[in-house]
Amino acid sequence: MSNDGGNIVVANDIEKSFGRGAGRVHVLRGLDLTVRKGEFLAVMGPSGCGKTTLLHVLGLVTPQDAGEVFLNNRQVPLKDSARNVLRRKHIGLVFQRFNLINVLSAADNVAIWLRVRGLPSDGRVQPLLEAVGIPHLARRKPSQMSVGEQQRVAVARAIAHDPDLLLADEPTGSLDSLNATALLELLRNFNRLRGQTIVMITHSPEAAAFANRVVHMKDGRLLP
Ligand SMILES: Nc1ncnc2c1ncn2[C@@H]1O[C@H](COP(=O)(O)OP(=O)(O)OP(=O)(O)O)[C@@H](O)[C@H]1O
Ligand SMILES: [Mg+2]
Repeated sequence: MSNDGGNIVVANDIEKSFGRGAGRVHVLRGLDLTVRKGEFLAVMGPSGCGKTTLLHVLGLVTPQDAGEVFLNNRQVPLKDSARNVLRRKHIGLVFQRFNLINVLSAADNVAIWLRVRGLPSDGRVQPLLEAVGIPHLARRKPSQMSVGEQQRVAVARAIAHDPDLLLADEPTGSLDSLNATALLELLRNFNRLRGQTIVMITHSPEAAAFANRVVHMKDGRLLP
């Protein structure tokens, strides 16, 4: 299937189920989605409708059962090793629960992420912490930071390798409204100033208003 040059990710006719037999849940049912380069897309939908599952398929975390995913106009293979290489290079993920390493400082949480990707961390971490507005917290551990600050570390980590696609799973879900607004402004600035392509899941219409396109999920597909 052909894709024009302006797309980062194209998902065609994606199917995904979990479980077997009577307990089988058919989550994604022929879902199609195109994410254009430079767009800030919000995905909304009721709890359990498959938003996280979709994000994990787009982020090459979970393989789909059927359908195709194209990243930068190339079909993503189903083989784990190839997917891991593509994910580490091209995808940045902000999880709903930040998944920071509690025994490491903010700076080391970012540095280890770079090293896992074989990238140098020297001199790169502090500018990233500055970019997310917490240059003064480099030596703090997650337990010594507010939830909003921890989420900024998670964002710094997710953008550290300059991914083509930043995926964020309810990044403001645990934040109060002030911190949520600050984080959304940060994401919007990354999108506007650096051209960062972002897909963000959210339950909040206020958060979705920061995006430049909103899609709604229902019954395992996007509403037209
Ligand atoms: N690993 C799994 N094994 C079995 N079922 C799963 C698994 N992951 C998700 N599911 C089921 O798939 C459905 C969709 O889950 P998903 O996490 O994608 O929903 P969601 O839209 O992100 O919900 P929420 O808004 O509550 O985060 C749910 O019914 C969930 O129970
Ligand atoms: Mg979810």
